[in-house]
Amino acid sequence: MEQVFQDLVTLIGFSEEDGRILKETSDVTSQWVEELSQAFYDLLFSYEPTAKVFYEGERAMREVSLKQWYLDVVSGNFTPEFWKHQWLVGLVHVARGVTNPYMLGMTSRVQQLFLHKCLEAFEPAQAEAVYGAFKRATDVVAGLVTEGYLQSYMTAMEKVAGFRRALVDRMLQMEIFRMLNEAGVQLSVKPPSEE
Ligand code: HEM
Repeated sequence: MEQVFQDLVTLIGFSEEDGRILKETSDVTSQWVEELSQAFYDLLFSYEPTAKVFYEGERAMREVSLKQWYLDVVSGNFTPEFWKHQWLVGLVHVARGVTNPYMLGMTSRVQQLFLHKCLEAFEPAQAEAVYGAFKRATDVVAGLVTEGYLQSYMTAMEKVAGFRRALVDRMLQMEIFRMLNEAGVQLSVKPPSEE
């Protein structure tokens, strides 16, 4: 997980300054929690594939955890525990049938709503700074959740099939090359078997 976190932070350009900006403005941004949570679950419950994920009566509980997540983000208090927890959310999502497209779609919605609220509440330069900090932080979260999802899926498959990870990775890579070949796509590198 550490390497994935490092890759995301470096490539996204997230820094401690982002935490400071969010903390400074959290008295304003934390007031948006209710509206954001309502918009989030109204959409998920109005779209059949995502509505099916939830069991009867679960909404109130889910609202509590989304609100807590949002308040953690806008408080800017990004502890190692906070990031580790985001990785585990990927695992929770696999268990509950929450796919990465569902998750990424909703990350985008949250970011769009946050931008809209920032433009209403702040002068343009500050709106850009606050939104930028929120966007970078939530992009790191989305990267951790999606990679946590994939890695836990792969590890579970490896355990079920009883293969070593290096072997699984190699076999999958060879299969991917075969699939690309079938699709008529030629890469500029050779498949692992011909190296
Ligand atoms: C912005 C995108 C999302 C974020 C940040 C997010 C965050 C989280 C977090 C933090 C948890 C763990 C809560 C805990 O600590 O117990 C969680 C669990 C869960 N999430 Fe997501 N989630 C996102 C998108 C979605 C979507 C799109 C769905 C459904 C379509 C969903 C459904 C669930 C469910 C069912 C659980 C499991 C709860 C349980 O059984 O304990 N999430 N999510």
